[in-house]
Amino acid sequence: MSKPSSQPFCASSIIGTGSYMPEKVMTNEDISKFVDTSDEWITTRTGIKERRIAAADEATSDLASEAARRAMAAAGVTAEEIQLIIVATVTPDMFFPSTACFVQKKIGASNAVCFDVSAACSGFLYALQVARHFINTGNRTTALVIGAEKLSSLVNWKDRNTCVLFGDGAGAVVIRRAEEGTDASGRVLSTVMGSDGNLADLLKVPGGASFCPITPENVATRPNTIHMEGRETFKHAVTRMLEASQQALEIAGLTAADVALVIPHQANARIIGAIAERLGLPPERVFMNLDKYGNTSAATIPVALDEANKAGRLNKGDVVLLVAFGGGFTWASSVVRW
Ligand code: UT7
Repeated sequence: MSKPSSQPFCASSIIGTGSYMPEKVMTNEDISKFVDTSDEWITTRTGIKERRIAAADEATSDLASEAARRAMAAAGVTAEEIQLIIVATVTPDMFFPSTACFVQKKIGASNAVCFDVSAACSGFLYALQVARHFINTGNRTTALVIGAEKLSSLVNWKDRNTCVLFGDGAGAVVIRRAEEGTDASGRVLSTVMGSDGNLADLLKVPGGASFCPITPENVATRPNTIHMEGRETFKHAVTRMLEASQQALEIAGLTAADVALVIPHQANARIIGAIAERLGLPPERVFMNLDKYGNTSAATIPVALDEANKAGRLNKGDVVLLVAFGGGFTWASSVVRW
């Protein structure tokens, strides 16, 4: 990965967090009733115990809108104040309009410019960086950045290699320009991003779009579901998330020793453990909630950030390290001063 040049002072702050998880819980036991797996295998290999599944009539924009309302309430901003909505998702309501436009309609944010970002599990941090650029250039002052997924709509429930891993949910943050010299908490200090399209085939949904439309001939092979080379993905995830974390910390002028809490993408407890160990961070400085929700792709980081915030695990001044990896491959890391 090429080393990014150091970034100018960027005055964007997270001023509110929110999340929404669908009510229905699907446990490992439930899955073991329809596919050849066990709670023991899933728990030891991934750390996941259960995940949430959205209702049939609940679309990604419904999850996103509820998370957005909660983040706006926490931030104390009205829908009219929102000037930009970015939804990171690989499970949009439709090919178009964007899911962000549906969120705009549902929350009544009539003054916002709206679009989606597609970077799989790194999507939230990509979207955060895009929003930050809008804010730091003076183009917008207040934005909603949302990670939302209904991955249950992309899962092949007959494939035990993947169906045990994923879940549905949404998380959101409100970010706002912070004036220089002020002591605003939630300030995003640095972000690094990377991509390697040469490895696109290792994690993908090959069908259902222009490359391989669904036809009566191919529908039975379920090309419109998640295909993953798990072991390869695992290796790249550890390497890239570690690198990205170290770079984001370096740009912020910090080291891992300064980190109060790392909030990593929630794909696998073993991946998170490997990164924490290499960064020299003890378990109490690593946030994990994948036991409850599984991998919700772009939603994992904003959901975890909201839960850490609500649980009182983020104190003013804390250095929070966010780091993600996903299909593309893509990866990203942000350092936030809470
Ligand atoms: O979010 C984007 C990034 N995604 C990730 O970072 C995910 C990265 N990968 C992983 O988390 C892990 O590779 C998995 C959890 C997906 C798989 O764990 P693993 O330790 O790499 O297992 P494996 O794929 O090497 O499979 C080991 C064995 C195989 O059996 P054989 O060939 O050794 O007989 C699989 O068929 O486990 C078998 N297996 C299962 N057994 C019971 C695979 N899935 C299951 C299952 N239940 N659900």
